[in-house]
Amino acid sequence: MRLPELQIADLVAKVPIIQGGMAVRISTGALAGAVAAAGGIGVIGASGMTFEELANEIRLARAKAQGGIIGINIMFAAREFWGIVKTAIKEKIDLVFTGAGFSRDIFKVGQDNDTPIVPIVSSARLAQTSTRCGAAAIVVEGKEAGGHLGTDRPIREILPEVRQVTDLPVIAAGGITTGADIVEMFKLGANGVQIATRFVLSEECNAALPYKQRYQTARQEDIVTISSPVGLPGRAIKTPFVEKILSKTAPKPVGCDFCLKHCSLEYCIIQALINSQNGDIDNGVVFSGENVWKIKDKSIRPAAEIVKELAKEAEEVQV
Ligand SMILES: Cc1cc2nc3c(=O)[nH]c(=O)nc-3n(C[C@H](O)[C@H](O)[C@H](O)COP(=O)(O)O)c2cc1C
Repeated sequence: MRLPELQIADLVAKVPIIQGGMAVRISTGALAGAVAAAGGIGVIGASGMTFEELANEIRLARAKAQGGIIGINIMFAAREFWGIVKTAIKEKIDLVFTGAGFSRDIFKVGQDNDTPIVPIVSSARLAQTSTRCGAAAIVVEGKEAGGHLGTDRPIREILPEVRQVTDLPVIAAGGITTGADIVEMFKLGANGVQIATRFVLSEECNAALPYKQRYQTARQEDIVTISSPVGLPGRAIKTPFVEKILSKTAPKPVGCDFCLKHCSLEYCIIQALINSQNGDIDNGVVFSGENVWKIKDKSIRPAAEIVKELAKEAEEVQV
């Protein structure tokens, strides 16, 4: 199947693949810029960044993107949500993705600043609300996704329901690892796909080597859902710290800086994500999609090669 371009507002991506935003500091300017230069849409995971850091990452991504499309992803649950959005707009970001919670006000801010807003939803109901509020496109995420989850239903069930309630571009996310998966999503009505897990095994991904190695060794039975202090379940690969979360023996936060609007204080999720990104995976949470173990080529390669491979695989599928 020849993959069509993906148009969101007046932005046109040659390859309809969005690299999903990954916090904390897993997808930074280097990865976003590389994916954008390869014709997809590159997304900086902005949750947990300082404003200055985000501004620098956007500039770095822009310098690498060769005119390609760059977005940021920020979770609504973050206390600094509005500061991050304003920083990104000031830096002339092409579009803003928001997940882990829902804000109606963001659409007005997007309209006022001519910045397309793309919410990440997991139900037809929220897709409909987003359409009414002025979203530019909709990412629909199934339970196969990595990170915080908004549903326990598979993408193949939710996507056709979302397709029925909106005429906006619909982008499918969760568990997509091959070109055949991409084609399947298009057949179910998607206009594009969002892929995150597959891009962790790229040279440009900002995670330390032990993090990437955990992706390389993960077996199906190592992928679990944990409770996150954000108030949502999260999908992760087992690590000693994740085992502690599962057995409810994870240490309570120390020196909390109130990074979330609401936190259960069960453990410090931001510190656990920072630890793993830095390579201390024994004391960290390694978020991952459900199908990480299905990735065929687990070598660490340039992100552009991954984009090309996925597009080529999709094109080889007979429809
Ligand atoms: C390591 C990791 C971190 C993530 N962080 C975020 C995030 O900060 N915000 C968000 O909306 N989604 C986040 N996600 C979800 C992805 O952006 C994406 O929608 C989802 O993982 C797609 O499924 P896949 O990973 O199976 O391709 C994260 C996913 C991973 C694997």
